Amino acid sequence: MENLKLSNGVEMPLLGYGVFMVSPEECERCVSDALSVGYRLIDTAQAYYNEEGVGNAWRKSGIKREDLFLVTKVWIANAGEEKAAQSIDESLRKLQTEYIDLLLIHQAYGDVFGSWRAMEKAYRDGKVRAIGVSNFQAGRFFDFAHYVDVKPMVNQLQCNALIQQIGIEPLLAEFGTKMMAWGPLGGQGVDDVIKSEVLGKIGSNYGKSAAQVALRWLTQRGIVAIPKSTHRERMEQNLNVFDFTLSDDDMALIANLNQHDTGTINFGDPQFVKYLIENYG
Ligand SMILES: NC(=O)c1ccc[n+]([C@@H]2O[C@H](COP(=O)([O-])OP(=O)(O)OC[C@H]3O[C@@H](n4cnc5c(N)ncnc54)[C@H](OP(=O)(O)O)[C@@H]3O)[C@@H](O)[C@H]2O)c1
Repeated sequence: MENLKLSNGVEMPLLGYGVFMVSPEECERCVSDALSVGYRLIDTAQAYYNEEGVGNAWRKSGIKREDLFLVTKVWIANAGEEKAAQSIDESLRKLQTEYIDLLLIHQAYGDVFGSWRAMEKAYRDGKVRAIGVSNFQAGRFFDFAHYVDVKPMVNQLQCNALIQQIGIEPLLAEFGTKMMAWGPLGGQGVDDVIKSEVLGKIGSNYGKSAAQVALRWLTQRGIVAIPKSTHRERMEQNLNVFDFTLSDDDMALIANLNQHDTGTINFGDPQFVKYLIENYG
């Protein structure tokens, strides 16, 4: 497994396993499978209601804590210094660990500066090894990163071969922030990446699937990918992307697939913001 070095020196695996929409009941089985096929980064969130399943699977795996990289996220309902601090302790309890490797603010709403102060404190106290944000699109990201003391080490964004997030790269670089891709295979219920003829054709030259090309393309750009699958054979397939290198020509062909650079969700759309806050805040 290749690693990525964060701005504070922490090493993070370039490929991990995500558990969005994996039910609490199924999560332990899925994460056990993922760990047994070789994943060492697990991406969960308070809002996924499955942190306990992740913790149970790790506890039973026998894998040393220092060999695992756990990512979780503070949900909107827990925004603000006091509530975020409590929620971090709750996540630690559910994950059954003394520290979280990477803690993110899940969405850019509510008292995110208060949440960040709690996260900075958790970072200083050793409860968290790295802190970052998620779904902070360019303008929001700049405003936030400019004013906080500890700069976000990661911004987790919707990113894949059709949503390339090229525009935000210089801003992330300005603050030493690394990108992590959610929906690296197009997201759940969307098959346009996996079924892409271009990716399929490129893959056939390397004996790889379109999904593997999509993941290799991200990791070759230095972006952490966290594909989700409940199927063990797909977990294996998705992890098996470090034994080939896409040529410059193939990287250029994939660059041409960019359709929605900033993502398919406008996080500044008042209707979307209203919906999230009214239903989940
Ligand atoms: N920060 C955020 O707001 C945010 C938002 C969304 C997701 N995330 C994180 O990012 C992770 C990944 O994103 P995602 O779950 O939305 O989508 P994704 O990983 O891009 O795609 C998952 C979908 O692809 C299918 N799949 C997986 N591997 C495949 C393969 N090799 N061939 C064909 N189909 C395959 C899965 O089906 P099966 O399960 O049936 O195999 C599932 O339907 C999440 O689990 C979560 O950890 C974060």
